[in-house]
Amino acid sequence: MPALSIRCRLLSARILAPLLGASLLALGLAPSDTRRDAEWIQWRDARIKWILTPSTQHDGTQCLDQAQVAARCRRALGEYDAMLQGQSTDSPVGLENFLAFVRSQALMETVDSVGRQTHRLGFSLSDKEYARLAEPFVRLPDLIVNQSFLRDMSDPAGYRSAVRQIEAQAGSEERTVRWRVLLFRGRFIKSVDRTTYGRMLVVIPGRTGVDGALYDQWIQFALATPDQPQGVDERSVSVVSVVRREHKARPEVYFMDYLRTTDPLTGDIRLVPTAVLDDNPSKNCYDCHKTGVLPIRPDLMFDFDIRGRLTKASDTSPTLRVLDELAAAYGRPDIVGMDEPAYGPSVGSSDVLPDRSFVKSVSAPLNLSDESLDRIRQAMACCRCHDSIGPLNFPAGVRRSRDETTFKYGRSLTQTYVEEGWMPPGNQLSRIERVELWQCLSRQYLDLKRGTGTFVDWLQGR
Ligand code: HEC
Ligand code: HEC
Repeated sequence: MPALSIRCRLLSARILAPLLGASLLALGLAPSDTRRDAEWIQWRDARIKWILTPSTQHDGTQCLDQAQVAARCRRALGEYDAMLQGQSTDSPVGLENFLAFVRSQALMETVDSVGRQTHRLGFSLSDKEYARLAEPFVRLPDLIVNQSFLRDMSDPAGYRSAVRQIEAQAGSEERTVRWRVLLFRGRFIKSVDRTTYGRMLVVIPGRTGVDGALYDQWIQFALATPDQPQGVDERSVSVVSVVRREHKARPEVYFMDYLRTTDPLTGDIRLVPTAVLDDNPSKNCYDCHKTGVLPIRPDLMFDFDIRGRLTKASDTSPTLRVLDELAAAYGRPDIVGMDEPAYGPSVGSSDVLPDRSFVKSVSAPLNLSDESLDRIRQAMACCRCHDSIGPLNFPAGVRRSRDETTFKYGRSLTQTYVEEGWMPPGNQLSRIERVELWQCLSRQYLDLKRGTGTFVDWLQGR
């Protein structure tokens, strides 16, 4: 919907530009004043309201434009730094959470002297510095960077041969552990090169790192699906590595996207980390990967037919089960380089289970029975588990305008997991109750119309 999103942008620019220009003056704050706490709080709350001002989608739903949120956080941070200059106090009380959040989002709007974004991945290090830090753990094994394997992967006619090389893996460094391969079509997002939902996932458990630590590598190749037009050049390869260290409770997680790039002179295919490119096409992995490795919920599974071409397979794959169990067993990861607490509280926090009247008001037109309302209400305690496997923090519970364009079916991960009935695990909710559960969770987290919710409470230090 390009026309609509343009209108959205024009509208918000018209409303907000004057607002921002007048902002400091309107609050009566001159940069060198010594401000009282109450004035800081007043400034903070005005900024929260501004940053979380929704745009409206074509169907009337309120949503946040995440790029705009990051840009506004950058502006707010600039204001803060300017106001702090010449202040006698160190840092004002009650702004800690707000500043942590604003800093974490403003990072993604950081630009260098020639205007290029340097922190697109949202780590405290620049993308290029992060690439250096992560390199020992996201470096791919010899078999994967071998030219015969990469040539096979560059043409659907070679896929079967590539998979056979992985299954054989004789003589490779990891002779003792079994590599797993899963071929599927995803239901959520296109590959980073924007070409396909097709995936070849290769999981290599128990690699040994340079420093002796054991790590599992999850490597996902973009794959041409049988229904896709021919001649598209699928280039992405994405990696999540989970590193277990004896002295640490939480496994370390490192991320990297690569693009397969053919050398025009030699014809060799190299894997170039997107993080070192001046125009990095990758986005913040932690926006979606809240639990490190995400469970795989394929749209369609593939196998090879007798001629070696991809074909639809049964969706009950033993490999899928093994991988789900492996991912779930990691527990809460430490996303190295990411200020996780700055992303705020989780969706569905258990210490504030709302009362029945809240669920009733959200689902009012449906007139659900009291039993139904209670079932929904009790299902809202996502934190009961997610506190220990990875909080579903910002932007997990937030409706974003980006969802519409990013996700195949226009719904975020969290919304999909709830509406499909996958979360909470083993629930007996009806279709209608699941839809209402998502409504309740997102309203409880951030009610964009009213500007309230557990996320706002947290920003305000509550
Ligand atoms: C918009 C959401 C989103 C973002 C952002 C995202 N991913 Fe993913 N990723 C997914 C989903 C969903 C899956 C599950 C498999 C599928 O459907 O493709 C996945 C799966 C993966 C896998 C396979 C292992 C696993 O976790 O299941 C890797 C590797 C991966 N992503 C790497 C990355 C890297 C590296 C980044 C950042 C540079 C990133 N992803 C950013 C949504 C995202
Ligand atoms: C009984 C424990 C439990 C409860 C309660 C629970 N989850 Fe989960 N959830 C899990 C496990 C286990 C995983 C898989 C983690 C993995 O494989 O990395 C998961 C994964 C997810 C994922 C995908 C992983 C990610 O990082 O995004 C989403 C989304 C999710 N849960 C949403 C919810 C929501 C929303 C609720 C509340 C309505 C909820 N869950 C309640 C245990 C739970």
